[in-house]
Amino acid sequence: NWTMEHYVEEVRRSLAARVEKNPVLLLISGGVDSTVAGALLLKTLDPDHVHLMYMDTGLMRKDETKTVKVALEKLGARHLHIIHCEDEFLAKLKGLEDPEAKRKAIGDLFITIQEREVARLGLPDSYFLAQGTLYTDLIESGKGVGKKAHLIKSHHNVGSPLVDAKRKAGRIIEPLDKLYKDEVRALGRLLVVDEEVVRRHPFPGPGLGVRILGEVTKEKCDILREADAIFISELKKRNLYDEIWQAFAVLLPIRSVGVAGDVRKYGWVLALRAITSADGMTADVYPFPTKDLLEISTLITNEVQDIGRVTYDISSKPPATIEWE
Ligand code: XMP
Repeated sequence: NWTMEHYVEEVRRSLAARVEKNPVLLLISGGVDSTVAGALLLKTLDPDHVHLMYMDTGLMRKDETKTVKVALEKLGARHLHIIHCEDEFLAKLKGLEDPEAKRKAIGDLFITIQEREVARLGLPDSYFLAQGTLYTDLIESGKGVGKKAHLIKSHHNVGSPLVDAKRKAGRIIEPLDKLYKDEVRALGRLLVVDEEVVRRHPFPGPGLGVRILGEVTKEKCDILREADAIFISELKKRNLYDEIWQAFAVLLPIRSVGVAGDVRKYGWVLALRAITSADGMTADVYPFPTKDLLEISTLITNEVQDIGRVTYDISSKPPATIEWE
């Protein structure tokens, strides 16, 4: 009779045997997976040996850095390294419009900063690198066995020179790699990770970078963050959030004409996306009650002055992907 408690004990035993007294470094993205991985390490190892590194790329959701920091401190994190690198990411993305070029720029900069900051920590060579990789991540990035590997978009979460070197040295820890998303959430609840984090919808590694179509700027990040936060908080208020597998807003590279009072207004167009899914490999459009959609649209255009028009994306996966880029 397999339970999550057994899983935690198994991880504790296997980590004790492998890691011994060496430090473990976990790269935290702010999502459910890496935060639960962090909780699991803090629970099963001496917290003094656990280093958590989180990069605030400026492409995060509203209040994300604060939420993650609070959650991890509550879990007993003692070495939490938060790297503020918004300016570096915005500079790197300047002028880039092509989705794959943007993904590559973000992924490459992630790696550069990661190497620089990990070196700055000065951990002994014997340290272990932990990742919040799930079973489905391994399948989607082509490393899975048993299912046909798909690589539609470049994912930067699974591989990097640092990860490859550690893998070669046999010093990678992926304590969630046999779990699906719903099991990770169950584990998170058992480990008393903040409910805000545990129920959080998945968020792509490149963050808002792939939800602002075309060139990414600080101004657009701020507009999208506000609109997305309104959408998400309304879903929670209306008890729809947990029925939906993933919901978010996308800022289109289009402006359209509208009216504000009796003046003509030229505002950005926002798309809302909400889907149901088992694992993100396929997805259906969430059949929104019209009333909620209309009310949310009004709230967004009232509160975010730069947005003039809101649309709802009614495409399933396939043929569309969940993200727009
Ligand atoms: P797509 O857009 O490929 O997304 O249908 C499937 C799921 O993966 C997420 N996604 C990513 N996650 N790094 C990630 O960690 C990425 O580069 C990435 N791109 C997409 C997406 O949000 C959805 O949940």
